[in-house]
Amino acid sequence: MAAPEFSDTVSFLRERVPHAPQAILVVGSGLGGIVEEIGDAVRTPYADIPGFPRSTVVGHAGELVAGRWAGVNVVAMAGRFHLYEGWTPREVAYPIRTLAALGPGSLILTNAAGGVRPGMQPGDLMLIADHLNLMWKNPLIGAVEEGEERFPDMSDPYDAEFRRVAEEVALEQRIPVEQGVYAALLGPSYETPAEIRMLARLGADAVGMSTVPEVLVARARGIRVLGISCITNLAAGLGSTPLSHAEVVEVGARVRDRLAALVKGSLPRLVATVSEEARR
Ligand code: HPA
Repeated sequence: MAAPEFSDTVSFLRERVPHAPQAILVVGSGLGGIVEEIGDAVRTPYADIPGFPRSTVVGHAGELVAGRWAGVNVVAMAGRFHLYEGWTPREVAYPIRTLAALGPGSLILTNAAGGVRPGMQPGDLMLIADHLNLMWKNPLIGAVEEGEERFPDMSDPYDAEFRRVAEEVALEQRIPVEQGVYAALLGPSYETPAEIRMLARLGADAVGMSTVPEVLVARARGIRVLGISCITNLAAGLGSTPLSHAEVVEVGARVRDRLAALVKGSLPRLVATVSEEARR
């Protein structure tokens, strides 16, 4: 049997995602529980989706959850693909590329990140204002896919209007949020203290190992992005304890409700912003 093609994946997704999605959600480490709030959920394990990255190493990679949340048709990726697992940049971004073909105008990404800026504390939420692609990898390298440009503009990667909306929701709901620059590194080892000092000098406020490949593809396809980092730990050398994945997951679970409230409150307003723009 021939390997599944882009169009096979898209036809399959059209069947498994019953309502044309207005927004894609990508949910990061320890934050997976927020998809429990999605109503009328249709769940599809990634392993069942033709063309999605498939691994014997990673094991259970996650599932797609399609349904309604806060009156919005959403499709959520509970679990994402990371470069440090050995996937290529194109493989990491493949789910976003194929889901984009279903026509959503918005992408909301969440991730876990280490706090680099002085004063950041575990449990803080940071709206990503910009990023540093220190992965030095790009899923747009290679053939130009239909609907994408060769040289996409990246001057507003994390939509300014989306951030304004999320700030407004956060204020109304009394959820403290910061804004800052997310530096993406390959991982999987955490950074050294010297690397964190370097990142601080380069203008990073938080550091993580995901998100950037997905954002590059979304922007190339004209999808507007809201990125939210959950600061799960002080970056290496800034705290008194060694970094651990257990801490990342534990803090993620602690802020999950606040994050869910922020996403839920923002979703309908982001979608309204996109359709208003389409009418103009
Ligand atoms: N560094 C990189 N990735 C991370 C961290 C960190 O400190 N915390 C959560 N993800």
